[in-house]
Amino acid sequence: MNYLEEMFGLAGKTAVVAGGAGVIGAVMSEALLRVGANVVVLSRSEASVETFLGRYRDVPELEPRAFGLALDCSDEGALDEAFDMAKQRFSAPEILVNAVGGNRGKTSFVDIDVALFRDILDLNLTAGLVIPTKVFCRRWIDEGIAGSIINLTSMASYSPLSGVWAYDAAKAATLNLTMAAANEFASHGIRVNAIAPGFFLGKQNKNLLVDEQTGDYTPRGRSVIDHTPFGRFGEASELAGVTVFLASGKASGFVTGVSIPVDGGYLVHNI
Ligand SMILES: NC(=O)c1ccc[n+]([C@@H]2O[C@H](COP(=O)([O-])OP(=O)(O)OC[C@H]3O[C@@H](n4cnc5c(N)ncnc54)[C@H](O)[C@@H]3O)[C@@H](O)[C@H]2O)c1
Repeated sequence: MNYLEEMFGLAGKTAVVAGGAGVIGAVMSEALLRVGANVVVLSRSEASVETFLGRYRDVPELEPRAFGLALDCSDEGALDEAFDMAKQRFSAPEILVNAVGGNRGKTSFVDIDVALFRDILDLNLTAGLVIPTKVFCRRWIDEGIAGSIINLTSMASYSPLSGVWAYDAAKAATLNLTMAAANEFASHGIRVNAIAPGFFLGKQNKNLLVDEQTGDYTPRGRSVIDHTPFGRFGEASELAGVTVFLASGKASGFVTGVSIPVDGGYLVHNI
């Protein structure tokens, strides 16, 4: 085994990627597959799981290590079963990526739709972090596994973005819980970290940032670009390297409780 494989290779390890059929989850899943891990994506619908797996149908070096399950990540029982199914098919999962989450539009505070506000908190926090973390950490503690969790924070975790109240609250909490859970589980050797993507055009934010008719930036999109020292949106593929780094116990075994921005300098912008 050469030095790179020893440091970053994940052959024989199993990763579960919740939300792995989404834009960011799929890139993270592929990165883990390409460094040798077995990858089980969890997504809400059979169709999205099939679309994900379909990408690897004719890729003999990846296809046997890609697997998917349709379930709701807010269902504790289903996640517990998913842990067992991943274990039966490959080996006990040692890596959990929490990539369920997203935003649903923008309003003034006085126009907040409270039911939608609760849904967004549930999506990002309950399904997006708390329940998968609870289920996997309980199994890891019981089975003596020093697992590793990667959460998805956001620029909104550090400083609120305007008009996206529930998303701001959920992502601030994601950063807080990443640090708190890192403390809680450190004595079991379990690491909890996060990746904070800057602005990547995804389903959830495209219409806020780009005018569908003209393809030009919206005023909000322009403001993001002006605020990003690299002067562009990120490419989802730019999240692959940091995923592998955080997943590899050899590369980041003493790293826990951090959120790594991948943001073209958005957080260090000044005038
Ligand atoms: N796209 C960006 O620019 C950006 C920036 C910062 C942070 N993030 C965060 O990264 C994460 C992934 O974002 P994305 O852009 O890939 O979103 P996405 O909507 O493309 O992917 C999320 C996936 O999770 C699935 N999902 C939703 N609820 C589920 C549930 N209860 N059970 C199982 N699956 C469920 C969806 O079907 C979807 O496939 C989110 O937490 C998001 O907030 C995204």
